[in-house]
Amino acid sequence: MLVAIYHRLYELVVFIRQMLKKYLYTINHRRLGLNYFYFSLITGMSGAVLATGIRLEMAYPGSPFFGGDSLRYLQVITAHALIMIFFVVVPIFFGGFANYLLPSHVGSKDVAYPRLNSLGF
Ligand code: HEM
Repeated sequence: MLVAIYHRLYELVVFIRQMLKKYLYTINHRRLGLNYFYFSLITGMSGAVLATGIRLEMAYPGSPFFGGDSLRYLQVITAHALIMIFFVVVPIFFGGFANYLLPSHVGSKDVAYPRLNSLGF
């Protein structure tokens, strides 16, 4: 019984390592570009949650969301702006489009130094 559990766990670890190698440690520019897109999708949702908080506060001033704390409101606006610019816009344009499209536009197989590019993600 215990051996069977260990065996399943081992298989799970091997599977996770294979997936990491295929998707996260990839040196393929298209896969990396997609990784950037998926990343900004997730961070974009967290930025949208903060935007919803801002909108709630403006719709119902002094709402329990911020507990009447004006400093917290300003922090959320700042976090929203920083997340949207540096974790959504920049990854989409510089990481996503640059990796996904640029190499094929200039007619090369991949970017220069693909491993360094992969490390960059
Ligand atoms: C591409 C980047 C950004 C996206 C996609 C974005 C998206 C949004 C969305 C969807 C809302 C909700 C609007 C609403 O409910 O009426 C919002 C609100 C807001 N965002 Fe951003 N945002 C971005 C960048 C920024 C930046 C750089 C700032 C700078 C401080 C900022 C400040 C605000 C403020 C103050 C609000 C509340 C205004 C309002 O709701 O009318 N956002 N944002």
